[in-house]
Amino acid sequence: MADLSGRTAVVTGASRGIGAAVAEQLARHGARVIILCPSSAQGHAAAEAVRRRVGAARVHSVACDLAELDRVRKAAGQISGLVGGRLDVLVNNAGVAGLAPTRSSTGYEMHFAVNHLGHFALTGHLLPALLNAPQPRVVNVSSVLHWLGRCRTDRPHLPRRYHRWPAYFDSKLANLLFTQGLATWARTRELPLRAIAAHPGLVNTTLGSSALHADGRHVEARLLEWMQARWHSPSQAAWPLVRAATDPHIASGEFLGPGGRWEWSGPPVRVRAARRARDADAVERLWRLSQQLTDHAFPPSGRPAGREPYP
Ligand SMILES: NC(=O)c1ccc[n+]([C@@H]2O[C@H](COP(=O)([O-])OP(=O)(O)OC[C@H]3O[C@@H](n4cnc5c(N)ncnc54)[C@H](OP(=O)(O)O)[C@@H]3O)[C@@H](O)[C@H]2O)c1
Repeated sequence: MADLSGRTAVVTGASRGIGAAVAEQLARHGARVIILCPSSAQGHAAAEAVRRRVGAARVHSVACDLAELDRVRKAAGQISGLVGGRLDVLVNNAGVAGLAPTRSSTGYEMHFAVNHLGHFALTGHLLPALLNAPQPRVVNVSSVLHWLGRCRTDRPHLPRRYHRWPAYFDSKLANLLFTQGLATWARTRELPLRAIAAHPGLVNTTLGSSALHADGRHVEARLLEWMQARWHSPSQAAWPLVRAATDPHIASGEFLGPGGRWEWSGPPVRVRAARRARDADAVERLWRLSQQLTDHAFPPSGRPAGREPYP
């Protein structure tokens, strides 16, 4: 991996799991890293853990609940100040899964609100800082389970018939549709920003099982934990994300994941997305909806002004 000295990176959801491993790898190779997570205490602890393991690492933390769009705007301002107005890499990794029916304070279904909408808003608000870097990139973290997702732009609010896992699958499909939308948005404005998607395979974290416990579904949670214990470690799973964030040969719009059987684990390689993740109509619908719900997080004209396929 190249030396990342002089580069700055934000990793969301880096207080634990895969995000923490990504933050550590980027810091280990010289990047200045900002950890974004909901709790400032956990953010400080995660930053301290990276410093302890990596030595002279420059790691900061910013507290932000991605479900709170006002908070996301403020966090973006705080991050821009910390990085001196120039951000090289944004890794949109934070995620929730397996939640009981829950709405964000702004009324959106929680998987959609955190996994997609909060990241859409964060990316839009960080755009000025990203565009001050010579070769900025945004990495959106999806899942192999996006194959089971649907683009349901007609129901961003909690639907009457809610199922926790399809809601997660849909949000992971949204991560890929957003990647295509952002790649198009940047390309049509001739901006150097690259939008890249990555998925980590199946990973031994507490994603999903903690939500099931919180909802009193202990048997289901234990079954999931039994499977999770057999999946690969966050530090191995981080590699497709780290490669997406750093490899100069990866182009905008590409998708990386582990190269082993069924993409569950293995070395980071280019992988195929479901046809639904490349549906131009769905890309545009999701972009328009996200713009509307975030009060136009992306300025209609980028820099320089160009053709605007998604006003
Ligand atoms: N684990 C897998 O097998 C797997 C497979 C495919 C894709 N992925 C994807 O990989 C990413 C990371 O998953 P993981 O397994 O590392 O999960 P994890 O261990 O549960 O970590 C999730 C991270 O997201 C943060 N987060 C949760 N809600 C948030 C919110 N509202 N605002 C800001 N941050 C929030 C958490 O912060 P707190 O600690 O404060 O809650 C934590 O730092 C997710 O996007 C997930 O969909 C995971």
